[in-house]
Amino acid sequence: MQSSITVRVPAKVNAQLAVGGRRSDGYHGVASVFFSVGLYDEVTVTPADRLRITVAGTDAAFVPTDPSNLAAKAALLLGARYGIEPNVHLHIDKGIPVAGGMAGGSADGAAALVGCDALWGTGADRSVLLELAAELGSDVPFSLTGGVALGEGRGERLTPVPTAGSFHWVFATAEGGLSTPAVYGECDRLRELTGGSSDTEVPVPATDPALLEALRTGDPGALGAALRNDLQAAALSLRPALADTLRAGTDAGAIGALVSGSGPTCAFVAKDAAAAAALAAALTASGTCRTARPAEGPVPGAVLVRRPLVPAPNGPVSRAD
Ligand code: C5P
Repeated sequence: MQSSITVRVPAKVNAQLAVGGRRSDGYHGVASVFFSVGLYDEVTVTPADRLRITVAGTDAAFVPTDPSNLAAKAALLLGARYGIEPNVHLHIDKGIPVAGGMAGGSADGAAALVGCDALWGTGADRSVLLELAAELGSDVPFSLTGGVALGEGRGERLTPVPTAGSFHWVFATAEGGLSTPAVYGECDRLRELTGGSSDTEVPVPATDPALLEALRTGDPGALGAALRNDLQAAALSLRPALADTLRAGTDAGAIGALVSGSGPTCAFVAKDAAAAAALAAALTASGTCRTARPAEGPVPGAVLVRRPLVPAPNGPVSRAD
């Protein structure tokens, strides 16, 4: 019997987030260019007598350890699909900002799906994992696939986007998170204030060809120029100080800046690794954020990083690989 499985899963930034009108189910249609970046959570799944969650990392105190945690929901959902009691200990090592607009919760949901699937030997098809992921949340399918992808519908319908090489980002985290539903709600409120009262008056969300071209050719300057987030005004309305963070990054030489997803993390593009390191240092010193970290992308989605532990023929436990 395996004793544990560890899955590593990256954060995302939306290089573009075009938000349409609110649908009858309460969600908003989006055209989202998801971009996976090298800030990671690790989720370790171990058999236990009941489902439980523990969390480690700087922001651990802000992560729910009750059934509202997407990792717990993932274990329950996969277990229900295959008739397995989800008696596992899910340990989350948090490297992704919590409630930061970088899909940290979604990442843990995706990692738990992959980890439980491996631990239980369910052998779920990729298509089943993607379907369960979409049930867990709009951003969870992308956390499974990683890379760069266009997300349509509410963000769960993915099409891979071709990219060349690696891009260099810097992420400035804020003190405290923002609630995604609250930011979408503020977006609706601001649209109503500015005259777009009916949902049908909001244009159908679409992707900017200039962004796709920047990604295809690996051009960081063109990527920086094409960044766009329709939730940014709402995030700034709820957290006006983010304008200072964005300005500090631009003043320090960023070639593109935007709020990541529903925020409050701010994302910046740099031309290379050295520029990203310098930008992160300048942002940290600016006093306009809690901390700033460079990260490259794209990177793969949720992957097993440790093989199951198995008993060696003549002795103690050893790695299967
Ligand atoms: O899908 P998920 O559970 O992550 O979404 C959280 C909330 O964010 C939704 O309940 C909804 O209020 C908002 N949302 C939205 N439109 C989307 C995605 C999320 O309005 N496309």
